[in-house]
Amino acid sequence: NETPSSLIMIFGATGDLAKRKLFPSLYHLYRKGKLTDHFAVVGVARRPLSHEEFKERVKDSVLTSIGESTDIDDFISHFYYQANDVSDSDSYQELRKLAADLDEKYSIGGNRIFYLAMAPEFFGTIAEHLKSDGLTDTEGFKRLVIEKPFGHDLPSAQELNDRIRTAFSESEIYRIDHYLGKEMVQNIEVIRFSNALFEPLWNNRYISNIQVTSSETLGVEERGGYYEKSGALRDMVQNHMLQMVALLAMEPPIRLTTEEIRSEKVKALRALRPIEGEEIKDYFVRGQYGSGQVDGKELPGYREEHNVDEQSNTETYVAGKLMIDNFRWAGVPFYIRTGKRMTAKSTKIVVQFKDIPMNLYYRKDEPLAPNLLVIHIQPEEGITLHLNAKKSGQNTEAKTVKLNFSNKSVDGMNTPEAYEKLLFDCIRGDATNFTHWDEVALSWSFVDKISEIWESTKETEFPNYESGTMGPREADEMLAKDGFFWWPVANLEVDNC
Ligand code: BG6
Repeated sequence: NETPSSLIMIFGATGDLAKRKLFPSLYHLYRKGKLTDHFAVVGVARRPLSHEEFKERVKDSVLTSIGESTDIDDFISHFYYQANDVSDSDSYQELRKLAADLDEKYSIGGNRIFYLAMAPEFFGTIAEHLKSDGLTDTEGFKRLVIEKPFGHDLPSAQELNDRIRTAFSESEIYRIDHYLGKEMVQNIEVIRFSNALFEPLWNNRYISNIQVTSSETLGVEERGGYYEKSGALRDMVQNHMLQMVALLAMEPPIRLTTEEIRSEKVKALRALRPIEGEEIKDYFVRGQYGSGQVDGKELPGYREEHNVDEQSNTETYVAGKLMIDNFRWAGVPFYIRTGKRMTAKSTKIVVQFKDIPMNLYYRKDEPLAPNLLVIHIQPEEGITLHLNAKKSGQNTEAKTVKLNFSNKSVDGMNTPEAYEKLLFDCIRGDATNFTHWDEVALSWSFVDKISEIWESTKETEFPNYESGTMGPREADEMLAKDGFFWWPVANLEVDNC
């Protein structure tokens, strides 16, 4: 259960991600005995800090996250710091010396993980220096972990990939999509491929549509600068939403290896029907939040946010209808929607089965509610199956009943955070829950077509949804045209088991 010895270098070690996610996750692994004594972490960032000052920062971040701890001092004794100017060879040389010393001190055997938790414009430069300054030149394994965004579109992603590939092979690159670390996202595959009940029905003969919603109540907060250039399509759809769709749509892998699973996901993404010109109106809706109330608090619109243009045309909401043109899915829409400042923070998947041929029960002239399989990704984690059953009493009336499974109530514990799982996988060398270049490239080429069409037709009047609502009316109309509606997130909650 332990991970191999490793030297982990975190670039961007004074940043928010390191503080909020990486240090606490490493600590959890340490507490659980999943890190050997043969590990060391070097924080790398621009500002000068002593080892001691850095250790104190790590300690603060862990204690803020978990409260009290008795072994925090042992944990932070494994942390070191090196100031670095990303484009200056001399500072990489210093890092190389420190790495060599730590390698010897902790008997690490040359295993190295380089975690780039910083602004993406530096990814290529850092990777090249790691190689040219000899940091990748060791006996053990070397791995590069990269945060999103991986490029801004296909050409920029391709350029970035070419640069990092000069220093690392594809199997050494771990591209993070933190949704793939979420417990219930990982569960999609298990639910599908370990139940005789579902797999035979998992196709266009029995499923009428699939809905994937990832809504947030927060607005763009302090990230206006980044978000203005990104928007919801690049920020959420290109990665998290398409990854969930790929897991729902893929064929069963022949075995559970990284290569087999990725290759099935790639095939599903390859079958996505590209969106062309005018037809975008039937397939994609964009939105931008205006002012409104969330949890009783009046909040400003996107265009009033910090670092956002007053005339901004950036979308903070996207709804899409994806068609997967293969034998299994022909004719089944996968509806996705994601947005900021919506009614609830919630990620859910609803698999809607087709109606039964006729309704024998009261009221005969009305269709019975369809069977639904709801996968609750967050905040609650679980599965609900909506079935029809007899209403008690002397009647022939059917009503919907829900079979619930709540992950927390069964396991009696909070499941580990996404980052903890992903770090653990990376140290063990399991790249299954990281995105392969082929997936990145296919997702960008799908998304690029949509953004190109949107950029050439700036006709959407923004803002077009109020803060605290579930997005623009057009997204409801898109489903209504197909005879469907978005299953309301609030009605799908896991009941207490
Ligand atoms: C990130 C996006 O990748 O995912 C953010 O950049 C978004 O804009 C976040 O808020 C959502 O993640 P989660 O885990 O809170 O659903």
